[in-house]
Amino acid sequence: MSCDKSCEKHGGRRTFCRACIGAMTAASAAMVGYPVASFVASQPSRIGEGKPLEVPLDQLVQGQARYETYRGLQVIILNTPDGPLVFSASCPHLGCAVNWVSTESLFRCPCHGAVFNPDGSIVSGPVNEPLRPIPFEVKDGKIIISV
Ligand code: FES
Repeated sequence: MSCDKSCEKHGGRRTFCRACIGAMTAASAAMVGYPVASFVASQPSRIGEGKPLEVPLDQLVQGQARYETYRGLQVIILNTPDGPLVFSASCPHLGCAVNWVSTESLFRCPCHGAVFNPDGSIVSGPVNEPLRPIPFEVKDGKIIISV
């Protein structure tokens, strides 16, 4: 016995297949969309509005990183023996926040394993750009970020 492919048996299978394809498409879009949205949200266009970030130098510990939020961007202030450095905490690969590991004196990205030196240069990982430096000035005993 044959059917015209619109019977209950074939219609149910088709509906199931369509639901599976829809779910896989939505999952794929989320897997690509989240990292891209994170990366775009951390770009320099977020800088340029609002008041400066001021951090007193005497609040910084040698060899330690301090995380601050400046105009929607997470920044890292690293107090090195040569003076402070400021970077975007956003990994240049896909935008995850990098961690300062003081015992190794390295930045490590928890997402895909990128590793950066204290000056932001690349040690290893799936990146082709260093950590993005954030311009700052030192004035009256404070680090001032106002760009
Ligand atoms: S987001 Fe940092 S290594 Fe991929």
